[in-house]
Amino acid sequence: MTSSSEIVENMSSETKVIRSRVAGVGCYLPERIVTNAELEKSVDTSDDWIVQRTGIRQRHIAAEGETTSQLGTKAAQAALKAAGLTADDIDLLIVATSTPDYTFPATATQIQHALGMSHGVAFDLQAVCSGFVFAVATADKFITSGSHHRALVIGAETFSRLLDWEDRTTCVLFGDGAGAMVLEAGEGEGTSADRGVLTTHLRSDGAHRAKLYVDGGPSTTGTTGHLRMQGRDVYRFAVGMVTDVMRDAFEATGTTVEDMKWFVPHQANRRIIESSAEKMGIAPEKVVVTVDRHGNTSAASIPLALCVAVADGRIKEGDLVMIEAIGGGFAWGAALIRW
Ligand code: UT7
Repeated sequence: MTSSSEIVENMSSETKVIRSRVAGVGCYLPERIVTNAELEKSVDTSDDWIVQRTGIRQRHIAAEGETTSQLGTKAAQAALKAAGLTADDIDLLIVATSTPDYTFPATATQIQHALGMSHGVAFDLQAVCSGFVFAVATADKFITSGSHHRALVIGAETFSRLLDWEDRTTCVLFGDGAGAMVLEAGEGEGTSADRGVLTTHLRSDGAHRAKLYVDGGPSTTGTTGHLRMQGRDVYRFAVGMVTDVMRDAFEATGTTVEDMKWFVPHQANRRIIESSAEKMGIAPEKVVVTVDRHGNTSAASIPLALCVAVADGRIKEGDLVMIEAIGGGFAWGAALIRW
């Protein structure tokens, strides 16, 4: 394995910066698909209501005994394959999740072990639906500091385990799945034309806890708890908060909406996605939407959407891609990546 210091030493004298470049993405969805029609049988809801208010038509739900680390491992293996790498090449593994296998150890260490890695470092990161953006930002800091060379950044969730299946206001919204991205150190000139993560912008404000939270935990109830959400309040804040950090990302890189090829937002609700795009002046054909097929998979939603858009040939090398998310906390953020 090439070390970070070797990479830096081998860089040409004109090279100004290290960039975290995308080497590959991969994803995994549980086999079982639950349609809106199926939910109509268990709660007082309708396909019409769910589609009109959220754009969701179906979601994947993990099988009994299928864990977050199992989903994440499959996504990681697919990302490594896409990158033409093996686990031996990875020295940093970050898992964004709010649905860990256990309170501890970290789900990341379980995935590390399942991948056959005993080297490097693996840890979990908790920023709910914004987890993947936070994990990309964190991996980017490690890589650009020169301390690490190749990172597996994974968003993996079994949100079905947190849901109150009798609460129609939340149980219709979420799904399970995992997505992964390999980031590796590469040379850059320090301009927005570089390939790699160009900028990341993270925010949080704990004053909003009661709008979206889980009513249990090890140090409070001693239980896992269930997801509770004041959906209308989250909706009210979401568009303003994500468009603020997107503006910061454009400003920091001297790029514009016109330069951006693909907008890959967190997939919570089609109306939030469309309102954010409209507010930013983003053309609908640039927006990647998977919420119809996946529901809201929290930290997994962005890497799942990236995986879909790479696989179907939309996202290509050199494209400028914006990712953004908001979720519990609130925690929110955006990143601009040149593929
Ligand atoms: O990823 C984390 C971030 N989370 C989000 O981004 C979620 C943000 N919020 C939302 O996406 C939307 O607020 C929801 C989709 C959750 C709800 O849509 P809404 O248009 O804000 O609906 P509402 O909460 O204002 O509810 C409207 C009505 C209510 O009935 P009344 O009080 O008007 O009689 C609800 O009880 O719809 C009712 N309702 C439902 N009806 C059928 C709520 N859930 C359902 C349901 N099926 N599943």
